[in-house]
Parts: sequence; structure tokens; C-alpha cells
Amino acid sequence: MDHRLLLIATLFSLLCLLHLSSARKEGEKCIKNSDCDSGLHCETCVANNNFLPKCTRIKPISPISQVKTLPFNRYSWLTTHNSFAKLGDKSATGSVILAPTNQQDSITDQLNNGVRGLMLDMYDYLGDIWLCHSYGGNCYNYTAFQPAIRELKEITAFLEANPSEIVTIIIEDYVTSPKGLTKVFDAAGLRKFWFPVSRMPKKGGDWPTVADMIQKNQRLLVFTSKQRKEADEGIAYQWSYMVENQYGNGGMKAGSCPNRAESSAMNTTTRSLVLVNYFRDVPTLPQSCKDNSDSLLDMVNTCYNVAAKRWPNFIAVDFYKRSDGGGAPKAVDVVNGHLVCGCPSIANCRANVSYGTCPPEAAIVPESAPEIGASSFGYSNRGPVLYGPVLVTLTFLLSL
Ligand SMILES: *[C@@H]1O[C@H](CO)[C@@H](O)[C@H](O)[C@H]1NC(C)=O
Ligand SMILES: *[C@@H]1O[C@H](CO)[C@@H](O)[C@H](O)[C@H]1NC(C)=O
Ligand SMILES: *[C@@H]1O[C@H](CO)[C@@H](O)[C@H](O)[C@H]1NC(C)=O
Repeated sequence: MDHRLLLIATLFSLLCLLHLSSARKEGEKCIKNSDCDSGLHCETCVANNNFLPKCTRIKPISPISQVKTLPFNRYSWLTTHNSFAKLGDKSATGSVILAPTNQQDSITDQLNNGVRGLMLDMYDYLGDIWLCHSYGGNCYNYTAFQPAIRELKEITAFLEANPSEIVTIIIEDYVTSPKGLTKVFDAAGLRKFWFPVSRMPKKGGDWPTVADMIQKNQRLLVFTSKQRKEADEGIAYQWSYMVENQYGNGGMKAGSCPNRAESSAMNTTTRSLVLVNYFRDVPTLPQSCKDNSDSLLDMVNTCYNVAAKRWPNFIAVDFYKRSDGGGAPKAVDVVNGHLVCGCPSIANCRANVSYGTCPPEAAIVPESAPEIGASSFGYSNRGPVLYGPVLVTLTFLLSL
């Protein structure tokens, strides 16, 4: 009798311990990142008056986890603005960086968290190509982050280790040295993944399927802001293939989605890719959690209507990990739901199910609850799995 009580007590304490130590789901309170399930981190959003830290999404569901047979333009990719401008970084020149920063983690970490679009500002500097967050077309030691090859090599390593992933690089291009970009991409080992300009649709219409791009190992898309480089170096001129809304504060006015000056009007369907920027002129870490949450999805909807009812293929934000309930990863999931299967979230999409056939729960699940179907996409929730056997044992012992 005594030892049985002891056993029950032990199991009960174990249960309590599991409750404390087990990973927590999105929205649950936490103290540190490791309290939360994978794909989540622990944060507050003071800008939204949420002072208690909660487990928050940092990772979208892979757009191609279920369906790879659609054209590339039928998916949406989480994109980081100034992906290289990392908070707290010191310039590789040794100088203090005075330029604003836009992200919290490395390119490798971003890629591992499901970021698939990288916006990089490239300059000639110190006889090499550098990533700088600068002005006037020149890089200075206090605006220079890293030589570009370092971060390009991180992309090479990721593509080599992940043979089914596709990455897009969008270059704000200040490089004037002859074949400067070609040289640095070759030196980084990225040539073997190059998606050729000749295969990009010139008059709108569908891109090759992601399955085809994976099969041919053409898994790197590179766009430049310099038109001449398409003919000179085979690097696609961004706005021949993509429409893009205004960046900065001008792109954050609720209800409107003007194109940026270099882009055709958002409704130009001879450009089959759509990019939505949603970040401020001056990036701020505290504010970004609010910006990346509900108002981002509102802007995505506004731009959908303005862009001739087309969902964005790239959703570009600052501090992509910051949000107050969903944020940029959720926005990407919602858009992929629409693009891939016509359901409220990519979590509702299944292979070989016809477009618009959504599981019954999709109709009643609000868009803010993508975690319902997420378990099948690898967001483990160890809690119930571990409780199960303990509860069974406890019940069994009590019945003795
Ligand atoms: C940065 O550049 C300035 C002016 O060119 C120079 O005076 C300074 O020593 C440099 N700082 C570092 C750390 O290289
Ligand atoms: C496309 O958008 C522009 C504004 O950017 C507008 O003037 C034009 O009427 C639109 N065209 C169509 C066909 O909707
Ligand atoms: C889906 O369709 C593809 C091609 O028709 C087929 O190879 C695959 O086995 C199907 N998958 C499922 C889960 O039915």
C-alpha cells in the first residue's frame, strides 16, 4: 500500500515536472526560448501592450512540404529585408557600424527558419564586393557589414545540405566593377544552382514547377536592380519579372498598395511575380512585432486586390522573428493556403487534393490558428505524447 502511494506520488511529481519542462505551443507563456516548441521563440510585444512573454512563431510551414507540382509563382516565400544587416554586428573592417540593422540572426539561421527570399545590398568596397547598408551608392567602414562572399557561402552550404529547397536573392545593386557580381557568385560556389534567365517567363504566365527546378538543380534565383546586367551577365533584371509595392513608410498606409517607382503598376500581369514590402523607413525592433502581425496580413489583402487579385510570392519584412500572434510566418502560411490549395492556410493543403477542397476544420478554424494542422508538418508538441503513457500508468495504478 505504502509503496503504491509512493509510486503514485512519484508519477504525479513527474507529471508536474513534465508540465513545466515540456515544450509549449504558440501563444502559451514562457520565460526563455527553450520553453517553446521548435519553430517558436519566447518574446513580448510591448508595442502592442503585451508585456508577458509568449511562445511566438518564427517559422512558416514549408510551402512545398505537401505539393511541389505547381509553378514557382504559385508559392509565397518569407523574405527578409536587408537580411545581412544583423543587430549587434560589428563591421568586418573592425569599425563600429552606424547604419540601421534589420534582422536579428545570421543568413544560415534565417534559412533554417524557413526564410527563402534574401534582400542584399551589394557594393564595391576595398577591392571586393561587400554587403553594406549605406547611402549615395558608396560603402563606408561604418556602413559595411561583411564581404558578400561570406554570406553567399552560407547560402551555398544551405542549398548543398537541402537539395529540395529553393532560394531567391534580390540585390539592391551598386556594383560597377566589371563582372563584379558574376565573380563573387562563382567564387561562392553558387553557379551550379543558377536558374537561367532564359527559363524565366518574359510575358507573364507560369514559371516552371518547383519540382522541375529541384530536379534540374536550378534552385537559386537571382535578381538585380541594374537592368544592363541581364544582357551583360545573365542576372535577371528584377522588374522585368516582378511587380513590387512601395517600400518603407510609403508602403504602410492602410488600404493602399502603390508600386515602387522602378516597378510597373501592381496590376501588370506581364510580370508574374508579386513582392509585398512591409517595413518602415527606419527599422525598429520594438515596433516590428506589431507591424508584422495583423496589419501585415491586412496589407497583403490590400495588395492582393490592387495586384489584379494576385497573392504575393515574396513577403518582405524587418525583424521577421518578431510578432504578436503569427506575424510574417503566419502571413506566408495564409497566402500559401490561398495559392496552393485554396484553403485558409497551407496547413490545410494536402497532396493530390483538388484546389478548393479544404478539410472540414478549415472552414471553422479561424485564420489565426494554423497550428491545428501543423503537427503533420513537424511542429512537435511533446506534451501530450509524454503525458499519455504517464496518465495510463497512473490510472492503472489507481485501479490496483
Ligand atoms: C574608418 O574609416 C575612417 C576614414 O576613412 C578612418 O579614419 C578610420 O580609421 C576607419 N576605421 C576603422 C576601424 O578601420
Ligand atoms: C492598374 O492600376 C492602375 C493604377 O496603378 C490603374 O490606373 C489602372 O486602371 C489599373 N488597370 C486595370 C486594368 O485595372
Ligand atoms: C499523388 O499523385 C502523384 C502523381 O499522380 C502520385 O505519384 C502520388 O503517389 C500521389 N500521392 C498520393 C498521396 O496519393
